[in-house]
Amino acid sequence: MALVTVAKKDDIVNGKMIGVEAEGRKILIARVGGTLHAIDAVCSHMGGELPKGRLDSDVVVCPRHGSQFDVKTGKVVKQPGFAAKALTMGRGATDLAVFKVVEDGDDVKVEIPQKD
Ligand code: FES
Repeated sequence: MALVTVAKKDDIVNGKMIGVEAEGRKILIARVGGTLHAIDAVCSHMGGELPKGRLDSDVVVCPRHGSQFDVKTGKVVKQPGFAAKALTMGRGATDLAVFKVVEDGDDVKVEIPQKD
């Protein structure tokens, strides 16, 4: 596991999210209630860019078909609608990976699992 600096503390204000890249992974970082959370930035339904979606409290809404994910746990909160699911032969969204995120001085660092 490697801790990678991905942003400055002040880049992520409370109630907002940003998208970053580290070690070839796209990661969403959100600050909720003053605490940072990091999950995959790519929607598991059809690859929507979650940082371009909407953050409602601790839930991010995918800009493509509206799937919703808890930014604290990466879990699916709401699946896309029936028509959007039909695009993927009935396959919905699946839970997203969660990353450890820490504040170190002015830096925000994310722990990235090493690839095999
Ligand atoms: S790509 Fe995110 S809900 Fe379809």
